[in-house]
Amino acid sequence: MEDQPWLDRIYCADARSMADVPAGSVQLVVTSPPYNVDKDYTDHDDDLRLDEYLAMLHAVWRECYRVLAPGGRLCVNVANTDRKPYLSLVSLIDEQLRTSDCRWLHRGHIIWDKGASAGISTAWGSFGRSSNPTLRDVHEYITVWSKDQLRLDGGGPTGITGNEFVAWTRSIWRPEDRLKDLERKILAKLTDARRRGKDDAWIAESIARSVWAQAADEGSESIWSMTTETGVDHPAPFPEELPRRLMLLYTKPGDVALDPFMGSGSTAVAAVMEGRHYVGYEISAEYCRIAEERVETSEVWETSKVDPEQGVICPSSSPGRLRPTIL
Ligand SMILES: C[S@@+](CC[C@H](N)C(=O)[O-])C[C@H]1O[C@@H](n2cnc3c(N)ncnc32)[C@H](O)[C@@H]1O
Repeated sequence: MEDQPWLDRIYCADARSMADVPAGSVQLVVTSPPYNVDKDYTDHDDDLRLDEYLAMLHAVWRECYRVLAPGGRLCVNVANTDRKPYLSLVSLIDEQLRTSDCRWLHRGHIIWDKGASAGISTAWGSFGRSSNPTLRDVHEYITVWSKDQLRLDGGGPTGITGNEFVAWTRSIWRPEDRLKDLERKILAKLTDARRRGKDDAWIAESIARSVWAQAADEGSESIWSMTTETGVDHPAPFPEELPRRLMLLYTKPGDVALDPFMGSGSTAVAAVMEGRHYVGYEISAEYCRIAEERVETSEVWETSKVDPEQGVICPSSSPGRLRPTIL
């Protein structure tokens, strides 16, 4: 875009100043900062003193506030760290935002269950004894904040399905295989309802709600679960599915998603797939190159089509990028 050269760009620069991005121009920030756990990043020292680390984050949050539109959301993915004693990064970041002179309003936490893909730690502490059993985290957080007001001006349909909306507004994200099971169950009920001539958005939503409620009663807590990203040459990528879900909840097509710690470009890839614009900052030239390559080879989801026989929305011609959903 000629008049908006900052759109759909990854700046190889420090996110403490995002001067190229105009104030109030972004609907969603989705990001995962370095956790300060001595990861081997090419251009960032991941072993800062805690006060230096928090000062760096503080400067980035301030810039995020400037570029967000009123009601725009800041979603920060972070894990607590095992520094003996345990350091709750999510609490520190929440406290930073809560006490900031910018007006951040807290919307809550999403628990991201890393499930089977979480590292198999053998740090048991005292195995089978009460002296010092060690907790091993298999989850991370996404702490969600709004700028100035909870409501986003100009909000509109995001393209999310009723089923996804019900699932992803629950505070813990559910294992993918479980989700597929539930989708099948909902689809069967929906097909039955249609056969009986009951076919509207309200019926579809109430079926989805009742199947989810039943699943929760069966003891499976709601969990936003996705495996960690592999196959990307970066020490700490998150899966595309994480920014994708946040975009489908918090933005509409054509909105802008910013990632100030872009890394290998997962947020930009999710934006391209879901028809959003992106802008990113990343201090490592090597990661910027990887991110740009990933964006170039990513595909837009095909527009969903309804199969009137089955009621399933399922694009047909790009097998790697199927997005099977239910009305
Ligand atoms: C946890 S990683 C982000 C990974 C990313 N979500 C992905 O999927 O690849 C944090 C990134 O922040 C970058 N970084 C650290 N300090 C930065 C700063 N001040 N400005 C911009 N990028 C920075 C690091 O180089 C690293 O790639």
